[in-house]
Amino acid sequence: MKYGNQSLVVVANRLPVDRCEGSWSPSPGGLVSAVAPMVKESRGAWIGWCGTSDEEFEPFEFDGMHLVPIALGSDEYDKYYEGFSNATLWPLYHDLVVPPQFHRSWWKTYLSTNARFAQAAVDAAAHEATIWIHDFHLQLVPEMIRAQRPDVRIGFFNHIPFPSESIFAQLPWRDSILRGLLGADVIGFQLDSDVENFRSAVSRFLGISSEELPNTVRAYPISIDADAIHRVAEAEETQHRARQMREELDDPRCLIVGVDRLDYTKGILHRLRAYHELLEDGVLDPQETTFVQVAVPSREGLESYQDLRDEVEQLVGNINGSFGAMDRAAVHYFHHSYSFESTVALYLAADVLLVTSLRDGMNLVAKEYVAARHDSGALVLSEFAGAAAELDEALLVNPHDIAGLKDAIRLGAEMPPAEAQRRMASMAEVVDGHDIHRWARAFLDDLRPMPPTRAPTTAESTNQPINADPNQRTQYVHTAQ
Ligand code: G6P
Repeated sequence: MKYGNQSLVVVANRLPVDRCEGSWSPSPGGLVSAVAPMVKESRGAWIGWCGTSDEEFEPFEFDGMHLVPIALGSDEYDKYYEGFSNATLWPLYHDLVVPPQFHRSWWKTYLSTNARFAQAAVDAAAHEATIWIHDFHLQLVPEMIRAQRPDVRIGFFNHIPFPSESIFAQLPWRDSILRGLLGADVIGFQLDSDVENFRSAVSRFLGISSEELPNTVRAYPISIDADAIHRVAEAEETQHRARQMREELDDPRCLIVGVDRLDYTKGILHRLRAYHELLEDGVLDPQETTFVQVAVPSREGLESYQDLRDEVEQLVGNINGSFGAMDRAAVHYFHHSYSFESTVALYLAADVLLVTSLRDGMNLVAKEYVAARHDSGALVLSEFAGAAAELDEALLVNPHDIAGLKDAIRLGAEMPPAEAQRRMASMAEVVDGHDIHRWARAFLDDLRPMPPTRAPTTAESTNQPINADPNQRTQYVHTAQ
């Protein structure tokens, strides 16, 4: 058998670089900053989509990593990325915030595209390599790799929630997804509740009890590169930028901030409604209070995202129409992304940060804010964000409860500095002690020990190329267990 050269292979929907004006630049984000150093250290590979459709690139070296771009044709972009990943799985796994759509043609393309990612990993992986697969776009990849490569260690980490058994039950292809995941030696989730949901689904739909599962299934709550945030937050230019931001906003007594991808899971409308009512009730004074909402464009081809944008922009318009003045907006809304440095400056400028997710695997904005502030500032945090399990000194809210959300925003706006300091310092200790590097190490430590050698099954030893024909897929089902 012919093996590849890489001892560590990361497989994710996106590469750790973005294509920008004809060249590659590192893409920002915690996952990249945690996993990329490990890939560099072991001279490993990263397999992922280059972010544009219908453009093909050869594998290339970037900053000590071997990057293998997977090109998505426009049909794959529509059905695998926008369709099955973002209009079926994303809403299903986020507790049906919008109705998921089920289309057989999307599923077929999800299968064939997963097979392409899996084949690229099989080709790149050295004998007994470690392969680490990320997120809901690629849930069939573990089983597909396992069918060809009994020698490798396979890990899978799901960055988003895993839904309860009764919601997961809706998915017509639920058994195949579960079997796909069970191809991994280590299956990681954000929270214990996700682990429980996965175990119940496996038990109910595959008839395999938790005791019978040979895989390691555990929670590894993801975190941030706290040192990188500290460095930027402590830099004089960031602090200067934060002061400047407040001045540009006319030095409000209370600056409320939200930073999110423009996604319906983030509860942006809920927080705007609560803020609007606080102004209407006269609890917050528009002369003294300003709200800055950064809404990073996301998945703009999908109708549900376009509808959300329309609703958010209409509500921002209503609030400003009622409470803005010539020289002062009640809400400053930005529909574009900000650099890492500017985002940290905005965290430093804020008095209150609002994270009001209706459902969120973790929410790293909350952790970044805590790391940036350390001993000041108030955090209003949804109890439906994974981060709430660790950040229990935040003002925890149910974002559907607008009255409760209003109370929390008011408490945040009026929080005495000593109380803010106590709460934030306690949360900062948690975040600093569990940063992204510790997360990545914990996962890889569980993944790396080799199991006792087992004889390959027939399908494994024949080393057939990966077949995405759904009618023939039963062969993977058997080899994976
Ligand atoms: C979530 C997912 C990531 C995804 C990101 C941005 O955080 O867990 O896998 O990359 O959203 O979404 P996008 O569709 O732009 O990759």
